[in-house]
Amino acid sequence: MAAQIEDIGACVFDAYGTLFDVAAAANRCRDELGDKADELAAVWRVRQLEYTWLRSLMQEYVEFWQVTGDGLDYAMAALGIEDNALRERLMDSYMVLDAYPEVKDVLTSIKAGGIKTAILSNGSPKMLNAAVGNAGIEGVLDDIFSVETVGVYKPHPSVYQMAVDGLGVEAGRICFMSSNAWDAAAAANFGFRVVWVNRFGQPQERIPGDPEQVIKTLEALSPLLGL
Ligand code: 2OP
Repeated sequence: MAAQIEDIGACVFDAYGTLFDVAAAANRCRDELGDKADELAAVWRVRQLEYTWLRSLMQEYVEFWQVTGDGLDYAMAALGIEDNALRERLMDSYMVLDAYPEVKDVLTSIKAGGIKTAILSNGSPKMLNAAVGNAGIEGVLDDIFSVETVGVYKPHPSVYQMAVDGLGVEAGRICFMSSNAWDAAAAANFGFRVVWVNRFGQPQERIPGDPEQVIKTLEALSPLLGL
């Protein structure tokens, strides 16, 4: 199959929303959350991300686990839920979110094609290792890069630079996948070749950076790489 994205040395993946389903934690607690599950998942995710951006601007970095807990506390308060046991259950679930069904096969085929594979994420090393272990994909990843190393969140360019330095592959030969439109745009603006995995049918963000390709799930990635 002819590659549409050629001369790639490494495929680098965002974690949350791209490899791992961020709605899985609320889904697993649907028995208790009932019809509040979807709204809780949505408010939680938005606050979690907003707090990463706000803390980066404020130069008040704390690890993603705390930001995730803070986002959940806001979401539970907004929905009028007070339940410490449920909070603990949701956080425990977030540590081991489900991978999307196609993830393992896609990573396996990329590695078999001789291309390096890595994760580049806001997640703390502990969270990323737990999710990767739960998904059984540690054997098909060359590296896991966490913002913990640079102490600032995406989309700061120093985060994307970590993959260039760590993999020893120049930005123009890194193919970066994210389902988060803002992350896809920022990574393209940085200089990566970007495939936006638009799982949720979102409109494009109005910020600098244009992804080169848009796909719906990672299944469509291998053909783009000629694999
Ligand atoms: C990640 O870095 C942004 O959720 C995103 O994994």
